[in-house]
Amino acid sequence: MKNGVHEFHKCLKTLDSSFRRNDGKRAFSAFYDFIKDESGKEKGMRRIAFAGTDGRTMLWALVTATATSEQHPESFEGVVVRGTPSMPEFSRRLQWPVAFVPTQSNAAKDYALAVIEAIKRQEIDAVVPMPEALLFEGIVDALEAAGLSDRIVGLSRAGAFIEGDKIRCKYLCKKAGIPVAPRWRDVDAKQYPEVLTTCLSFIDAFGGAVLKYPYSAGGKGARIILNTWDIREVYDTLMRDYADDYRRLFEKKGNWPLLIESRMSGVEISFTIFVDKVGNYQILPTAMDYPERFEGPASKDNPITGGVGAISPHPMETAELKEIAGKRIAEPLIQAMKEEGILRPCVIYPGCFVSLDAFGRSTDIRVCEINIRLGEPEAQPVARRLRNLGALIKGTLEGTLDRIKPEVRDDQVALSMALVTGPGGPDGQRGYPWSCTKGEALEIDFPYFKRKGIQIIPSAMTYSPEEGVFKSDGTRVAYLNANVTVKPGEDRGQVVERLRNKLLAAFDNGKIRVIPRENPQGNRLDMRRDVGTHYAKAAEIFHL
Ligand code: GLY
Repeated sequence: MKNGVHEFHKCLKTLDSSFRRNDGKRAFSAFYDFIKDESGKEKGMRRIAFAGTDGRTMLWALVTATATSEQHPESFEGVVVRGTPSMPEFSRRLQWPVAFVPTQSNAAKDYALAVIEAIKRQEIDAVVPMPEALLFEGIVDALEAAGLSDRIVGLSRAGAFIEGDKIRCKYLCKKAGIPVAPRWRDVDAKQYPEVLTTCLSFIDAFGGAVLKYPYSAGGKGARIILNTWDIREVYDTLMRDYADDYRRLFEKKGNWPLLIESRMSGVEISFTIFVDKVGNYQILPTAMDYPERFEGPASKDNPITGGVGAISPHPMETAELKEIAGKRIAEPLIQAMKEEGILRPCVIYPGCFVSLDAFGRSTDIRVCEINIRLGEPEAQPVARRLRNLGALIKGTLEGTLDRIKPEVRDDQVALSMALVTGPGGPDGQRGYPWSCTKGEALEIDFPYFKRKGIQIIPSAMTYSPEEGVFKSDGTRVAYLNANVTVKPGEDRGQVVERLRNKLLAAFDNGKIRVIPRENPQGNRLDMRRDVGTHYAKAAEIFHL
């Protein structure tokens, strides 16, 4: 408010001097801008909701409500639309200033109804849908139909193919001149000889091929083939996993489209980019995802999961790399979106391969896939390094991203480690990402985590009010998050190792446990232990 009064006086001064110079038009325009800005602040985009049920949804609401910007003094409120039953209870216990809007079900139409009602009741001003399924199922179209198109961040169904149809996206990239894998083919999955010939030619020229089920697959539709002996097995597994989806989409008619890309190597890095309605954009801090379930290369027994950990910044992030991503990916993509008539305020999240020189500088970049939502868990460490998340989302919706730069905690590194359901259970479950047992009670030493400065973000976790206990709901149950400040002259790799060991110690000492039915002293949770080790590796290789 103090700032508002100050701005108002500034505006009156401009008005006064413009009138004295007999420049009525300018005076009016200054006054109009002021009123518009102020009304935006007061009732435009202050209460920002995040729709979904996973950890990033909870965390983004929390960061929006609590991070303090040095450049944007207005305050924001964070709201979760739906969430999981554990989230309101976490917020109550930990005094997180986050509100909740329930939905009838997890279907996009029920989210849309809840959001429209909440906007009408002035409980929220805008919404950011988190899982891609909400966009594919038309949550943006529903808000557009209700006249609330300016209150939602995301692409409508017409634009959702960028993530939802990887083959169409490849053609879009080709048209826009966005660098992708050096070779790719769009084949009929039912024609094994065609798949075989393509794989053999890519193995010969590039050392491998990647089969990609091109439609929504929760990040699990890409299968890497590194040698000839694996071709048939990988193909058969992919067909087994997606035959039902193909049948559902195409019934008996026509081809089953399959994308085959030549293998890319280099360093994988994901960018999270806000794009506003006129095509201005801002690249958020980068992140490195840990998608394989266990340490080491992906394989049949080490599958690609939704992501079991993430760090921000990516160890190889540089200002130049972000500039390259802006020029070679964001700008041509935005231009293509304009030409296709699908540009809206949205998030784009391209996963890329970067080539480097001996000094760790990027020499080339290629897009592996483009998502149209935030990454999980990448969005968590990214947000934890941002001071002005609310202002960035407001700018995305209002078309002012040219004036709002991300305020990044550049001296900090953020780690996020998923606590997943491990093996075992009444049916001998294999654990995440395979089958998971559910419904087992959690034990959490909240004072310990507070003392150690470790944040627990609940995800697939419910709460039983009768028993007063949190319960596991399988898959990725929760995340352990922590930031560390790297002081000038300190070795980043060593600092992050200490932080990583702190998180591992909390887990190893049973400070958060899912109590297995068969063993009250045990822990059903499991985690990948090497999340964060790439800072030390980068130092070793590149002397960074
Ligand atoms: N962590 C990978 C994803 O969100 O797609």
